[in-house]
Amino acid sequence: MKKIKVLAPATIANLVCGFDILGMALKAPFDEMTLSLTDEPGIVIKHTDEYNLPEEPEKNVSGAALLALMEEFKKPVGFHLTIHKHIKPGSGLGSSAASSAGAVVAANHLLGNIFSNEDLVRFAMNGEKIAGGVKHADNVSPCIYGGVTLIRSIFPLDIIPLNVPDLFITIVHPQIEVRTSDSRQILRKEVQLKNAIKQWGNIGGLIMGFMKNDFDLIGRSMEDVIIEPVRSILIPGFDEVKLKCKEAGSIGGGISGSGPSIFMLSKDEETANKIEGIMKDIYEKIEVDYKTYVTAINTEGVKIVEAQ
Ligand code: HSE
Repeated sequence: MKKIKVLAPATIANLVCGFDILGMALKAPFDEMTLSLTDEPGIVIKHTDEYNLPEEPEKNVSGAALLALMEEFKKPVGFHLTIHKHIKPGSGLGSSAASSAGAVVAANHLLGNIFSNEDLVRFAMNGEKIAGGVKHADNVSPCIYGGVTLIRSIFPLDIIPLNVPDLFITIVHPQIEVRTSDSRQILRKEVQLKNAIKQWGNIGGLIMGFMKNDFDLIGRSMEDVIIEPVRSILIPGFDEVKLKCKEAGSIGGGISGSGPSIFMLSKDEETANKIEGIMKDIYEKIEVDYKTYVTAINTEGVKIVEAQ
């Protein structure tokens, strides 16, 4: 096999209360990536999208992830990578993770699947470091494993895939860019004990809610008393979206990753579509450009669509 095309999905990191430890893969949007093995060692990257991202391997998130993989592969190898992004950088939908994860999953297939999913997450975290300044696995892990994953630890990696009910996800992406590095810098470095107690109660509740298909428990647990109060200030319409969508029957939701996208979960597609209408009404009224998605959980992660 010399050439492979993959679709790398968007992801929602944090799932409100699980900052840096929980993430969910989505069916849409996704990036398209084609990777070829070449005789000439090294990496050549080309973007065919509109986002003007750096193409030098050391500065490109896919390049950084591939370099980490090549270092462990040890034998000289060369790659040509073409990326067409549909997940806008700075959207809070795991754009950099899709690029990093897609590249290493594709490379692993071309090299005969010698690396484990956990190895691939470790390589892909190097891309996250370039994008956000720190290694975190809550986007790259669900992107590679599919579904919802818990990152119990990143050093050493301990990834736990969770059983979750079928859920529908409605997303509104206000067209403002929030850089992950900026939205991490504004966070307070210390947490009050009373807030920590609420947060870990919610994380435990959310995971049990997923495992027991208990939608009320999922909804009660989707509360963040540490990160959301700080970050939501950057997102126009945030409080109104959350309140009105919950009143209309959404289970719960909040900031997707580091924002500015907002996601809301629903039990069925009909409610998810109704939520989309509410989001559109709010952003029309406050005159901020936006994009919406109604999607579902992607259980397979990065998908191989062509291999030659
Ligand atoms: N957990 C990370 C954050 C995700 O919230 O900063 C960034 O996409």
